[in-house]
Amino acid sequence: MLIGAGVALVVALGALWTFREEREDCNEKWINFSKYGLKYDLETKLYGQHVAAQVILKTVTGFMNNENPKKPLVLSFHGSTGTGKTFASQLIAKNIYKKKTISSFVHLFSVTAHFPHKEKIDTYKTQLQEWIRGNVSNCPRSMFIFDEMDKMHPGLIDIIKPYLDFSDNLDRVLYKKAIFIFLSDAGGVKINEVTMKFWRDGREREEIQLKDIEKELSQSVFNNEDSGLRHTSLIDKKLVDFFVPFLPLEYKHFIQCGLAEMARQGLPPDNSAIKRLADELTFFPKEERVFSDQGCKLIANKLPFFI
Ligand SMILES: Nc1ncnc2c1ncn2[C@@H]1O[C@H](COP(=O)(O)OP(=O)(O)OP(=O)(O)O)[C@@H](O)[C@H]1O
Ligand SMILES: [Mg+2]
Repeated sequence: MLIGAGVALVVALGALWTFREEREDCNEKWINFSKYGLKYDLETKLYGQHVAAQVILKTVTGFMNNENPKKPLVLSFHGSTGTGKTFASQLIAKNIYKKKTISSFVHLFSVTAHFPHKEKIDTYKTQLQEWIRGNVSNCPRSMFIFDEMDKMHPGLIDIIKPYLDFSDNLDRVLYKKAIFIFLSDAGGVKINEVTMKFWRDGREREEIQLKDIEKELSQSVFNNEDSGLRHTSLIDKKLVDFFVPFLPLEYKHFIQCGLAEMARQGLPPDNSAIKRLADELTFFPKEERVFSDQGCKLIANKLPFFI
């Protein structure tokens, strides 16, 4: 009896040992960029964003293949809600870190959730500084994603700036290997206007190039009274490497998102259910119903009611 219990204990301990989670370290075993993985994901999973996909692939590949970059990679994603900004940042993380988005080297910072009180700004400044410094010292190949960047207090943006600037004397060696991604809706209206103009002129969406949007985008983001980014010198000092536009999604992309979501939820594909869901939502221009007002955002939650 006693021997039986002893054997059981040894077996249980053995099983625990086997299933014990391996520690994630800051080395090639855990951080291994796959250019082809990223290319495949951007081409097959991110719908309707040919401009963003191209910029992301080029810049991330160039940066990750460079063992000695001059400065950190800083990308600013812009576009209206549900167009795939957060999703694209997850695809990048997925192809760099073995543990994908749950890697301890991927840090998501949500401005409104983490630092909600304006009056505590000084405490927040210290916390943010320590947070960045601590994480980068732990692993230089860290990724920081700042959501709702346009709502960030200018004082806090000032705190981040030195980390983005290669001319600064901070422990540069550490910071220049990190990736910073800013997400915001700022400039979304402008991007939608440009996309709609192409459509009205009867031109292909795929004809839109970064240069058709980039200048107007950076001007509208930084001259817009409502945008927190306006008061910062992120642009003057050329700290952002690229402004990446996310175009408004068309009806057909909405259907693609719906099918992908069904597959994710383990459901058989059903076009008619997604079309019924689309009927409930708003598209613009109102008459022609070409572009989705909420991108693909509401699909996951609403889908169960339409099947
Ligand atoms: N272009 C896209 N291609 C494929 N799926 C998409 C795309 N855009 C959005 N989705 C789907 O919709 C979900 C919500 O999109 P996401 O969170 O990336 O939007 P967002 O641009 O970050 O919006 P917000 O500004 O509201 O944060 C994603 O998880 C993804 O499933
Ligand atoms: Mg988002």
